[in-house]
Order: sequence, then structure tokens, then C-alpha cells
Amino acid sequence: MNKIAVMASGRGTNLKVILEAAAKGKCPVEVALVISDKSDAAALDIAREAGVPNVLYIDPKDYGDRTAFDAACAAHIDQAECEWIVLAGYMRILSSAFVQRFRNHIINIHPALLPAFPGPDGVGDALAHGAKVSGCTVHLVDEALDGGPILGQVTVPVLDDDTRDSLHARIQEQEHKLYPAMLKKLVEQGFELDGHRVIWNREPNFVNRLSW
Ligand code: GRF
Repeated sequence: MNKIAVMASGRGTNLKVILEAAAKGKCPVEVALVISDKSDAAALDIAREAGVPNVLYIDPKDYGDRTAFDAACAAHIDQAECEWIVLAGYMRILSSAFVQRFRNHIINIHPALLPAFPGPDGVGDALAHGAKVSGCTVHLVDEALDGGPILGQVTVPVLDDDTRDSLHARIQEQEHKLYPAMLKKLVEQGFELDGHRVIWNREPNFVNRLSW
């Protein structure tokens, strides 16, 4: 089974749908590890209730800097032999050492159609700009904030009476379908990179496996 680590700072609804898809056999992954940088993240409770074997709150204040904190996370990811690192509402920027260590094995979901509206408030920024269409993006994580190669996207119309919350709620409905679907595609099909483009393999192929 493809072991994944999920890193989450907040409500954990994306973690929840991934756990549910895995439990129902709809997504061939095993959530082996959940890490949060927030002690009160609902994601931690969701993970514990689902019986995830390793559920960790790691306090950034216990580490001197971002690199040291990320190294502690990486040690747990290595120990749990996770193949993929899935960011689900993880609000910390990753150090370049971490990105290099797990290059092309870290994915993120962003609540806008990248490359438009990167950053911490993709929903509010799209609304304030007057975009008529927004959506969500699953992408590989590289050193550029929300700038890695795109794996998949879904569009969501922006309505005249939308608030930040109403738009985010409709985007999240789509996130909850897209993220498990992308994970399934990732582990079953695999991809190659052509520059910044993700080209999905035609045949199942595991050339981008990490070596354990
Ligand atoms: C999602 O909207 C995701 O796009 C963004 O953070 C939010 C996390 O939501 N990166 P949740 O914690 O999974 O409910």
C-alpha cells in the first residue's frame, strides 16, 4: 500500500475525505502519519478517531528555525516510510532542504486556480479582484510559494452575492472530490515532468518511487 503522510494545521476536512476514500477502497493509500504544527487542530482529532497509527503535534517553538522543525518532521516521515507528503491546510512554508529531500513527492491543494491568486488568502484575493471563475488546484510543491507543477484543477463560478465564506464552501466541495481523485491518479498512474508540465503516464508506472 502507498503510505502517505498528511500535514495539516486546521480543520482537516481534506484529511477527512482522504481517510474516508482510503477506508472505502476508493483511494489506494494508507495514511500512516499525520503531523500538525497546531496543538488544537481539528485535523489531529480526525486522525486519532480514524485510527491513524502515528498522529503527532510538533511544536515549532521547540526548534530553532524552520529547517530544524522540518528536519524533525522529515525524520518521522522517514520512520513511517511514507512515499507521499500531502499538505492539507498546512500553513507553514516548507524549508528548501525539506522540499529537496522529498522533491516531487509533496503535494498541496490551493483554493484558487493557480497561477492566479497564490498565497494564504486565495479565496479572498480572487473575490476582491472580481474574478468570475475560481476553483481549486492540486500541485506539486517546489520552492516557489504555490508555484509547483499543476496536477489537476476544478473550476467554481464566483457568484455576485458570494462572500469569502460562501465561495470557500463551494470550492471546498470540489476540493473534497479533487484531492482523493488526484492521490489515486498519482499512486496508480504516476507522471513525468516536462519542464513545469505534469504529463500523466499512459501505463501504470512507479519510476518516481522514493527508495526505502
Ligand atoms: C483548503 O481550502 C485548502 O485549499 C487550503 O486550506 C484549506 C484547508 O481546509 N490550502 P481543511 O483544513 O482541509 O478543511
